[in-house]
Amino acid sequence: MFPVHRPRRLRGTPALRRLVAETSLEPRHLVLPMFVADGIDEPRPISSMPGVVQHTLDSLRKAAADAVAAGVGGLMLFGVPREEDKDPEGSGATDPDGILNRGLAGLKAELGDATVLMADTCLDEFTSHGHCGVLAESESGGVRVDNDATLARYVDMAVAQADAGAHLLGPSGMMDGQVAAIRKGLDAAGHVDVGQLAYSAKYASAFYGPFREAVGSSLEGDRRTYQQDPANRRESLLEVDLDLAEGADVVMVKPAMSYLDVLREVADRSTVPVAAYQISGEYAMITAAAQNGWIDRDAAVLESLLSIRRAGADIVLTYWAAEAAGWLS
Ligand code: PBG
Repeated sequence: MFPVHRPRRLRGTPALRRLVAETSLEPRHLVLPMFVADGIDEPRPISSMPGVVQHTLDSLRKAAADAVAAGVGGLMLFGVPREEDKDPEGSGATDPDGILNRGLAGLKAELGDATVLMADTCLDEFTSHGHCGVLAESESGGVRVDNDATLARYVDMAVAQADAGAHLLGPSGMMDGQVAAIRKGLDAAGHVDVGQLAYSAKYASAFYGPFREAVGSSLEGDRRTYQQDPANRRESLLEVDLDLAEGADVVMVKPAMSYLDVLREVADRSTVPVAAYQISGEYAMITAAAQNGWIDRDAAVLESLLSIRRAGADIVLTYWAAEAAGWLS
């Protein structure tokens, strides 16, 4: 008799496939990144991310409540200040009246502890030069991002976000020592229960392209002196080990789909929950292909999310979080 082994037996019916599926995708696994912009009267579409908008403070509250009703596990908020409010230090990031902190406070008032409120703890949306930290002149006369001066800004930003009601902060700037510095600052301010979802392995990726439009970024050049080289895998393990030692509560790999190998290794190693961020360019690629009729959008979205889960993510940040949660529940 040949063949002896027939793996197709377990694929024969939907019920069989359901019984033996190794990986699942549930609404609680999904976190929705959201943008709130200052100085707009109605939601502003982001052309490179069809279906995603910059919210007003009002539309943010409504969309967040809808996402939570759909069952998402949490929300990750980004602020988009007015151009004239940007400066080299990113002052809007630490101002309690800055757009991100006002957005957080609004969400806290609307949702309380009904969801997990997260915020991007990074200066790039607020700096006039668009870098993730403050600049210093380098020996060669050019500019570089000053690691340790930036840490002091992150600490102030973290405390402002915790004051505004965030449950988990998302340091995404890839400064050395950022998790430890923020931990110390939060504890000193009495925010011992506010945690960090650390962007531990964050690569200098071309797939962030649409995000630049999403936050009206002023960046010229790139972030290669602080974000990781896509050529490196082992370096991610070092970054994760450091963040764990510094007190990260969750570690993250970003982007997701081009870094599933890194995600798997981080998931095998981490002693805390692992997140992955399906970023703007990943959203844009699937959306554009679907708009051309080249792929089945909903099936491609679910397959991409399941793949990220299969690679080891406990939590997936995705711009489809609310919509996919609706399909799944
Ligand atoms: C930095 C930050 C970025 C993203 C999230 N946080 C941009 C960058 O590092 O260049 C990208 C998210 C996306 O592309 O969806 N504040």
